[in-house]
Amino acid sequence: MTKDIHSARADFPILKQSVNDHPLVYLDNAATTQKPQVAIDALVDYYTRLNANIHRGNHSLAVQATEAYEGARRKVAGYINAERNHEVIFTRGTTESVNLLAYTYGEKFVQAGDEVIVTQLEHHSNYVPWQQMCLRRRATFRILPFNEHGELDLALFERMLNEKTRLVAVNHVSNSLGTVNPVEEIIRLAHAHEVPVLVDAAQSVQHIAHDVQSMDADFYVFSGHKMYGPMGIGIFYGKEKWLEALPPFLSGGEMIDNVTPEKVTFNVLPYKFEAGTPNVAQAIGLGVAIDYLKQFDPLELQNYEEDLLTYGLNLLAEIPDLVIYGSPSHRSGILPFNVNGIQHYDMGVLLDTMGIAVRTGQHCTQPIMDALHISGTVRASLALYNSREDLEKLADGVRRIIKMLKR
Ligand code: ALA
Repeated sequence: MTKDIHSARADFPILKQSVNDHPLVYLDNAATTQKPQVAIDALVDYYTRLNANIHRGNHSLAVQATEAYEGARRKVAGYINAERNHEVIFTRGTTESVNLLAYTYGEKFVQAGDEVIVTQLEHHSNYVPWQQMCLRRRATFRILPFNEHGELDLALFERMLNEKTRLVAVNHVSNSLGTVNPVEEIIRLAHAHEVPVLVDAAQSVQHIAHDVQSMDADFYVFSGHKMYGPMGIGIFYGKEKWLEALPPFLSGGEMIDNVTPEKVTFNVLPYKFEAGTPNVAQAIGLGVAIDYLKQFDPLELQNYEEDLLTYGLNLLAEIPDLVIYGSPSHRSGILPFNVNGIQHYDMGVLLDTMGIAVRTGQHCTQPIMDALHISGTVRASLALYNSREDLEKLADGVRRIIKMLKR
């Protein structure tokens, strides 16, 4: 039996509080989601009952902690349908995962004159690491622009692919506009040129389809804290053949096999990419968050959130002088807007006085803001515990602020 989505809110203790004397309306989920009690309890339980360093200990706590950590890896692998558990590497988050690939892939596979393609819809974390790698390797950093709807042009993408292209990096869902990018088609076109693709799933894995095998993603990265898990834990998934071919990223303990003054041989997957003591408690917490998410029917969850998004966008669209950015045919989780004559920052501060948490500014996507010729947006973003009432309060709050400031 699947869990009723309408019952989810009660599982998140932080949502029960008031902020600025109003019941909290939390609409900053693209920045970080709140955590269900079970995921919070998992962290406390780990440090209360289990804490030990993992993998090289033979005492009971070390063995149990190792089993819990590896169990979390199996849960992540199952959740994204990785073929093998050792294709799942724990990192600190999406940013570290992208950097892992940019450094290792760049060092091994990118030469002067080669090309890397990203899109104009990327978060800085899937943009700057590739730009910097291209500068280091004297490769060409190419950017696929978005059109007036906030969508990518696949015909143009196909024309950009050529024998010099070494990698494509694209997000599944834009954190600023909410555009759902056609990653399956992008991967199919790139693979026709034998080019691997990195999918940044930071804004999608918690909302929409996340099957790395059916998607045929070569690399797939996301953060635990945006999918109801703890901060400080993230995932770097790579197909085994790529992980075997790449050099290690960070060096140190655990990633080695044999060390002499002259040389070192490296550990097997996944440990080759997990130097040092990992975030054991956070990995276990992420596994519990995945258990929590798996109680819901994924299609029902997606439909619920998409209905909510449409409801919210329609409410905002009725407000005079309010501009919604992008009109993609498929949008997920994000309501980006401004009101003519009111600074996004001011709107955010005033909504906060009503207990409504949104994010304002560039959202780490300056290339998007530059293309739209704006300094930033107000961004409301959704999670499974949000309701129509939350969006009614947002729309009502915006109307009251307009009245207050424009009177
Ligand atoms: N990357 C997060 C966001 O888009 C912080 O808000």
